Amino acid sequence: MIRRFQDYDLSPRNTFRMRAKCALYLEYDSVADLEALDFDALPRPLLSIGEGSNLLFTRDFPGTVLCSKISYVKFFDLGLDEVPVSAGAGVKFDDLCARMCAEGLWGLENLSLIPGTAGAAAVQNIGAYGVEFKDIASGVSCYDIEKRCKCSFKVEECAYGYRDSFFKRPQNKERYIITGVLLRLSRSIRPRLDYGALRTFFPDGDPDSPQAVREAVVRTRREKLPDPLEIGSAGSFFKNPVVPREHYEAIVRAEGDVKVPHYDLPDGTVKIPAAWMIDRLGFKGRRHGGAAVHEKQPLVIINATGEASARDILALEQEICAAVEQRFGIRLHPEVEHI
Ligand code: EPU
Repeated sequence: MIRRFQDYDLSPRNTFRMRAKCALYLEYDSVADLEALDFDALPRPLLSIGEGSNLLFTRDFPGTVLCSKISYVKFFDLGLDEVPVSAGAGVKFDDLCARMCAEGLWGLENLSLIPGTAGAAAVQNIGAYGVEFKDIASGVSCYDIEKRCKCSFKVEECAYGYRDSFFKRPQNKERYIITGVLLRLSRSIRPRLDYGALRTFFPDGDPDSPQAVREAVVRTRREKLPDPLEIGSAGSFFKNPVVPREHYEAIVRAEGDVKVPHYDLPDGTVKIPAAWMIDRLGFKGRRHGGAAVHEKQPLVIINATGEASARDILALEQEICAAVEQRFGIRLHPEVEHI
């Protein structure tokens, strides 16, 4: 079934809780609904959203916002180690994590508690604690608006990169609607504990259930990140920048005695946590109107009062970018999509 709403207030549909309207808002339950839809008659542009957890609406949207409520979860346990799982694009990603961990299937546990839907996870290549969506995905099902047919992509065809994919390319954004994801999870014990302090949760040896890892990840995230039910935000606001090794070394020299956290990448470049740079510049808790830099994780900009305007958030973004560029010579790029 399709539900249509004209001149629709999107504030309950984006986790930043920005007030913005769209000309038309459509929710659909199945691929058949998409097949029956007259796309030519819809106000343009088109924008597919999941839970709106990575979006910043900076003004009203003149087109159609499409929201998938396709919500099946199927898994095919053939007694083999690898267990294929398919899920509708509208499934809450953390519900999928919770369910698969409870089934004893490994793969999704490090991605616990990330807001958003399965469809959005496939666009954004979500990641946390050393695992990205692409690592556990085998394919993505879509509806092709241009050709008016179903299609699918293998994970290798999705051009996955750090918070990036084929689906983010401008020419694909209005062409493909993600309808489902195909994952490959595992029955055998596979904890991935190398990121940050995750391993310290298991002083007596590796955990033997994905549920145990999920609980550790949930605790870590709850300590650092704002509770989406209480405070509006869109998670990490900026991407972690990647710089040539010489640039990183110049920062190390300039910062003197302080240890500069970093991850060496296989191609010789270096990723520096934006959170560290923002923290070093003293931005924790900095406010602009109703927006603020989160006290516990400065990569997150929050709607502190519940009444922040997009202008407040953009002003804080610019202030942070200018300060980081001046001190470290690095231009930060937002991870959150500005609409
Ligand atoms: N740091 C500080 N001060 C702070 C917080 C962090 O200096 O107050 C430094 C520390 O050196 C820390 C480093 O920043 O080791 C990295 O911090 P953290 O482990 O919290 O991760 P992140 O790089 O800031 C990324 C993702 C998060 C994901 C975490 C955990 C991006 C843009 N963000 O953040 O993803 O949860 O790693 O894997 O890559 C999201 O995308 O919305 C998101 C929350």
